Amino acid sequence: MTDIAVVPVAGRGTRLLPLTKSQPKEMLPVGRKPVVQYVVEELARCGIHRLLFVTGPGKTAIENHFDIDVELITHLRLAGKEELLSELAFEREDLEYFYTRQRRQLGLGHAILCAEPVVGQMPFVVALGDSIIGRHAASQVVRRMIDVFCSEGVKAVVAFEEVPREEVVQYGIAQPKDGASDVFELADVIEKPEVDEAPSNLAVAARYVFSPVIFDYLRKTAPGKGDEIQLTDAMRAMIRGGHRTLGIRLPPGEKRFDIGNFESYFEAFVEFVLADPAVSESLKQRCRQLLEVAWGARR
Ligand code: UTP
Repeated sequence: MTDIAVVPVAGRGTRLLPLTKSQPKEMLPVGRKPVVQYVVEELARCGIHRLLFVTGPGKTAIENHFDIDVELITHLRLAGKEELLSELAFEREDLEYFYTRQRRQLGLGHAILCAEPVVGQMPFVVALGDSIIGRHAASQVVRRMIDVFCSEGVKAVVAFEEVPREEVVQYGIAQPKDGASDVFELADVIEKPEVDEAPSNLAVAARYVFSPVIFDYLRKTAPGKGDEIQLTDAMRAMIRGGHRTLGIRLPPGEKRFDIGNFESYFEAFVEFVLADPAVSESLKQRCRQLLEVAWGARR
């Protein structure tokens, strides 16, 4: 089965301006690591060996991050800072990196289509480069998705997470065929529906497994919401074309950390640093003091 993941990282990240003016949102720190390092570590733990980044303007920091930096390693050795070498261990993961460019930012669907010449006729994983799954990316959901994809012989498996009803307007939302158990068949998926029109509160959670059939549908997909080629629209057409597509819920205790907007980025940062053993105790104390002041000011 597949061991290649496409990681789209070409988006402009306008919702995070000015932070993202000259740095990729996928390189923003969440605790000690940039977002995209968590994504790669999660995928490696799930059995992925080849990573294809779909990059764009201003994203070279991502390529640099995954290079083996011999100069830095030598510097740390000469400076007697060997203990810091473990921080660069991710460079040595048994992974192959490939890069292709999305030459115009025409949307997520278009970014995935840019991967076709490299992916070819094999099934592949898609993992959005701005989303971490599970605290410290410990999620095995992609492994499970690949297993379900193979055992059920379907054309796509999509991860979903329950979101508060009022947030459905921000995501692609599942319409399950008959009830939404842990693994369920999709009747439809709707991009950013109005709250009262949403068929469920299950939101697409940034991880997918696709058969190459998706490329046929992406090619035929016209620009939709935001004048972008939407992956959701291509998935809809694929389901309507009779290609069985399954949804899988993130397991309890796992959630998607979406680094695409300030509120959820800040939430992720706070959650990760509060769980960082080196600083958590002192930070919790400091947060408690700050919260007491904040709550006191409200009373
Ligand atoms: P978003 O849907 O958050 O889009 O991307 P965006 O353009 O980056 O952000 P905003 O809306 O301007 O704030 C989800 C993932 O898809 C990639 C992004 O890099 C991100 O990892 N993407 C998005 C592309 O690769 N190309 C695109 O044209 C759009």
